[in-house]
Amino acid sequence: MKPPPAPKQAPSEPDPTALPRHLAIIMDGNGRWAKERGWRRVRGHEEGAESVRVAVRACRRLGLSALTLYAFSEENWGRPSAEVKALMTLLNRFLKKERQEMLDQGIRLNAIGELDKLPNSTRDLLFQTMADTAQGQHMTLTLALSYGGRQEIVQAARALAHQAMAGELDPGEIDEDTLAAHLYTAGLPEVDLLIRTSGELRVSNFLLWQIAYSEFHFTDVYWPEFREPHLLAALHDYARRQRRFGKTGEQVRGQGG
Ligand code: IPE
Ligand code: IPE
Ligand code: MG
Repeated sequence: MKPPPAPKQAPSEPDPTALPRHLAIIMDGNGRWAKERGWRRVRGHEEGAESVRVAVRACRRLGLSALTLYAFSEENWGRPSAEVKALMTLLNRFLKKERQEMLDQGIRLNAIGELDKLPNSTRDLLFQTMADTAQGQHMTLTLALSYGGRQEIVQAARALAHQAMAGELDPGEIDEDTLAAHLYTAGLPEVDLLIRTSGELRVSNFLLWQIAYSEFHFTDVYWPEFREPHLLAALHDYARRQRRFGKTGEQVRGQGG
């Protein structure tokens, strides 16, 4: 069994002026982490829940305004039903366990995706926890559940088409802001940084529209072993990036960026 790779960077606190406002994470590698240890995949999901807890606490402490976690994709419904069921059970457990901490820390819980597809008990608990934490001012924690980026864009297009058919919207007036306002992420800041764990170099249908100008950080670390030092290493990596948004480096530096 190979030990978890240590982050190269010393885990000092990142420059508070160079933090992402909105961090999104594709939490991948739970199954492989467990299998490499001769355990059931579900054990990887259980340990992954602990990594979620660590990431939420650290982001809150550092002062990020939004953290969005890819917890269950639209495509994940195609997994064996026992694994899907175990994931929903874990989600219920997470919501019950973390409710008080979210309230104490001023964290607002939010969810994006086709939430109607979730089992009733999970959906009820999710909506109740979102209602309970709605006043949280310090950070928005968004769980992407039954989420697909293409599906999200399709439902936005459908909503706009309905409005146009009803004569409430002039199709010629549709711009980027109109479309963004109909995505599940409406109201959240731009995604500044996207992290994917487990060595996979793909987006897997996550936040397709929203990552147009995000910075990417890929790590080989499996999600269950992703802890605060790995997060800090990703934030240090982000702080070193020059975001140009199509401009030249000179222009951006001239703006003090
Ligand atoms: C991520 O870990 C969790 C979910 C997708 C729900 P995986 O379960 O995909 O783990 P691997 O990629 O098979 O190792
Ligand atoms: C993406 O991981 C979905 C989540 C992390 C929830 P997957 O493990 O489902 O992605 P692929 O299938 O390897 O692309
Ligand atoms: Mg995976």
